[in-house]
Amino acid sequence: MPIIYHETTQTFHLYNNKISYLFKILKNGQLGQLYFGKRIHDKENFDYLLELFPRAMSACAYEGDKTFSLEHIKQEYPAYGTGDMRYPAYEILQTNGSHITSFAYVSHEIRPGKPALPGLPATYAEREEEAETLAVHLWDEVIHTDLILFYTIFEQHPAIARSASFTCRQEEPIVIHRAMSLSLDFPDYDFEMIELTGAWARERSVKCRPLEHGVQGIYSMRGCSGNGFNPFLALKRPNTDEASGEVYGFSLVYSGNFLAQADVEPFGTARVTMGIHPDRFSWKLCNGESFQTPEAVTVYSDQGLNGMSQAYHTLYRSRLARGFWRDRTRPILINNWEATYFDFNEDRIIQIAKAAQQLGVELFVLDDGWYGKRSSDTTSLGDWYPNPEKLPNGLSGLAGKIQALGMKFGLWIEPEMVSYDSDLYRAHPDWMLAAPGRRSSHGRNQYVLDFSKKEVVDYLFHLLDRIFSEAPVSYIKWDMNRCMTEVFSQGAGPDYQGTVPHRYILGVYDLYQRLTDKYPEILFESCASGGARFDPGMLYYAPQCWASDDTDAVERIKIQYGTSMVYPLSSIGAHVSAVPNHQLLRNTPLQTRANVAYFGTFGYELDLNQLSERETEMVKEQVSFMKQHRELIQYGDFYRLISPFEGDGNRTSWMVVSKDRKTALVAYYRILRQMNGGYSRIRLQGLDPQSCYTVSPSNISQYGDELMNLGLLTSDINSGEFYSHDLEKDGDYASRLYLLTAE
Ligand code: DGJ
Repeated sequence: MPIIYHETTQTFHLYNNKISYLFKILKNGQLGQLYFGKRIHDKENFDYLLELFPRAMSACAYEGDKTFSLEHIKQEYPAYGTGDMRYPAYEILQTNGSHITSFAYVSHEIRPGKPALPGLPATYAEREEEAETLAVHLWDEVIHTDLILFYTIFEQHPAIARSASFTCRQEEPIVIHRAMSLSLDFPDYDFEMIELTGAWARERSVKCRPLEHGVQGIYSMRGCSGNGFNPFLALKRPNTDEASGEVYGFSLVYSGNFLAQADVEPFGTARVTMGIHPDRFSWKLCNGESFQTPEAVTVYSDQGLNGMSQAYHTLYRSRLARGFWRDRTRPILINNWEATYFDFNEDRIIQIAKAAQQLGVELFVLDDGWYGKRSSDTTSLGDWYPNPEKLPNGLSGLAGKIQALGMKFGLWIEPEMVSYDSDLYRAHPDWMLAAPGRRSSHGRNQYVLDFSKKEVVDYLFHLLDRIFSEAPVSYIKWDMNRCMTEVFSQGAGPDYQGTVPHRYILGVYDLYQRLTDKYPEILFESCASGGARFDPGMLYYAPQCWASDDTDAVERIKIQYGTSMVYPLSSIGAHVSAVPNHQLLRNTPLQTRANVAYFGTFGYELDLNQLSERETEMVKEQVSFMKQHRELIQYGDFYRLISPFEGDGNRTSWMVVSKDRKTALVAYYRILRQMNGGYSRIRLQGLDPQSCYTVSPSNISQYGDELMNLGLLTSDINSGEFYSHDLEKDGDYASRLYLLTAE
């Protein structure tokens, strides 16, 4: 898995068994992109790929040479203002008002492994042989500034991780207004762009549109990665589907404002850029100071969307997520939020925990409402001490009782927020993000603490440190329930304000880092009103994330399907909740709710004391089923089979296959029962074609090749005839699981 540098043509070739990534030093010292895609043979000279034709009316770098036009050359990290008319990768304002820059190659290093990005989440190599990193040093001689472009190629993954860093080396400061993590030029635009869009409680719907001339992009300006768009896009060939065809994925390891776009210019090339959103971003660098961008991870697959997703799943599960919980199956939990909301006391909590423990649940999570005077969402954020009326024995008293039941204790926190009605706000009103003389918008009656300030992060670290050390906490749900508005750091100068959104996110990362360092065995689950900060940056600290506040099984099918485009099942928080569902008032069968929630980090979010005897028995079986299969589900290879976003959306199917291909679990969800419907089969994926599998519950034996080519029969028997009273199995919102075991 080398990175090769061909001296004579000044060409870099990064490759492993699956991919090749080629670029070269151009005659003006900038870097020209040659190829990214399926692995090709290495050779000395790929210069012809630059396609340097004479250009009649274009801006050209050298007088007398009409072929060298940056308007047409495909580039690696393009500049503004020197001939390229497309969106640049970076932009730097100088004290004389100029934005023109031109960084030229100076040197490069190739080293084994992958260096960490200071203060930022990033993929990593555990052993040096797993990855190789190229750092290309460039220099702008007018503004005396270094630019380093980092490229890491992994031995086992069809993925390249990229980032950039700027260092000012002159007395006059410079101001960075745009510093994208990645820019990549494709020679054509015969692509469809896939993005994950949504809103609160309907996160990460899969949307697909053909690329067209002009800019098509997604972004967040919410202060967090957001629920409007996920920091991910893919470009797929029009004939690519889940199982086959070419696709390129782009994923930003970042949790704040971002921009990701594809820019198709008049000659039909397509430029993808991805990074921190440049609007309202400005970062002043004085002599000796550096700015490091977050990392973007690009993946190539010729095995369809499932191939791309599996590449992200494997990389993010094993070389982005870290620590004690990375490779461990996740505990089955009960969370009291939808069971009680703010209305609980210690006795009620113990009742819920007891019922859960008797059914095999392993972890109790105390959600919002345990602190200060919190009995509604109008008060007490920031006052992180237990409410004495609800918890007379404090957190440690409650946690002790939960532990005595044989369960672990988990706790909800929302450290980035403050309520006006709180001791914290009364003591430190200037710790809140707020613009001078302007009304502050609330979100859920709460306000955002200024995490760009070190003293705020320090304060919260000490507070949480005390809580975690006093009570035996095994799990933390770290929530964040509003986006940022009136973003202004009180008391800070004008130069600082353009740095606040990014510094805020660095503050969040810093707090996570300090807490995970000190409490490595606590399992962190991130959350932001459900899935408004479900991004790779968070996964570095918290290996799982609450996917959505919508717990309705039918909606969850879509949410989890979209989430799986990038994120492994071991990261997707999924719970069984009560019916009628609290968000949609829909009644779905208990078994379907479990059949959806199994495909994530499983748990319950209801008062199990309210269930009938039959339901209680079912829950017991579900818990034991999940214990038996969670390793397969959370660490197997996941394949999407039928999309809820295509056709009439009435059917969805997905499956997970063990690494040795001996076991697989197929889920089939059929939303509305159809009158006298047709036949239905699902072609499976990822099985061993030579192995014969026993399919449960039918007990039919079928070879892998049969299941993958002919399919698994899922027709509704005798539909149209009144033969059954089992609404749960045969009515609307029915679902089935098939367990395949190699004989
Ligand atoms: C939003 C989360 O997504 C919910 O699960 C719950 O924790 C509430 N916040 C509590 O305020």
